[in-house]
Amino acid sequence: MLTVYDYTSAMIVEAAGIPLLLVGDSLGQVILGYDTTLPVTMADMIHHIKSVSRGTNKAHIVGDMPFMSYQTDMSTAVRNAGRLLQEGGAQSVKLEGGQHLCDTVRHIVQAGIPVMGHIGLTPQSVNQLGGYKVQGKSHEAAAGLVKDSLSLEEAGVYAIVLESVPAPLAELITEKVSVPTIGIGAGVKCDGQVLVFHDLLGIFSHFVPKHARRYAELGEEIRAAVARYASDVQTSNFPGDAESFGMENRMMDELSATLSK
Ligand code: KIV
Repeated sequence: MLTVYDYTSAMIVEAAGIPLLLVGDSLGQVILGYDTTLPVTMADMIHHIKSVSRGTNKAHIVGDMPFMSYQTDMSTAVRNAGRLLQEGGAQSVKLEGGQHLCDTVRHIVQAGIPVMGHIGLTPQSVNQLGGYKVQGKSHEAAAGLVKDSLSLEEAGVYAIVLESVPAPLAELITEKVSVPTIGIGAGVKCDGQVLVFHDLLGIFSHFVPKHARRYAELGEEIRAAVARYASDVQTSNFPGDAESFGMENRMMDELSATLSK
């Protein structure tokens, strides 16, 4: 799975053979420039999911439920989950949280909407967690995450994202649940992996998480390409003949003659 936020990237990611595209609320940080995912709205999510769904034919699109779209009451949660499918074009939704959210998951699943769980470091709870820290390090916290995963499975999720949890704990959870786990900062033993598009491509340099492997340095390549363009414009090296449209000399002579009368 890879996050993706727009039409062009969705086409590229699908062509590369990624089967699951997550329109994550991480778009709040990497696209919209917020410090956290908390300001992201339903309107933001629907806007980006629509764009991604126009760029895909066969990949499964997971729409992230933004902060406060599912925490207040069940019927709001079901309605908002439905909107990500009906208005956005997602095929399933993801929400953050464990045992305390299982009733909500059950209601959404009963409405016919597949739900992906997300436990461990849940960025929408950053203020409660006291920062973006590895979760499940104590015996109690680790046992809590195992219970969360089993409860989510029982509530009907079809997969669980494990974010920033120690690799041995993610392996244990992966063994205990029968639904696939998808790790991000959770070691190699999860059933699948997810990365943020901008982290993978080296586009977002404000913050590089330890779990991210950069497969390219596109941020630097883009900056250098844009600087070359600016320089070519300043030195009249762009556009050249190949990028310009010609006109017959005879036509230009006639035009000059007409204008000088
Ligand atoms: O929003 C997001 O990108 C996510 C992934 C980090 C799993 O939830």
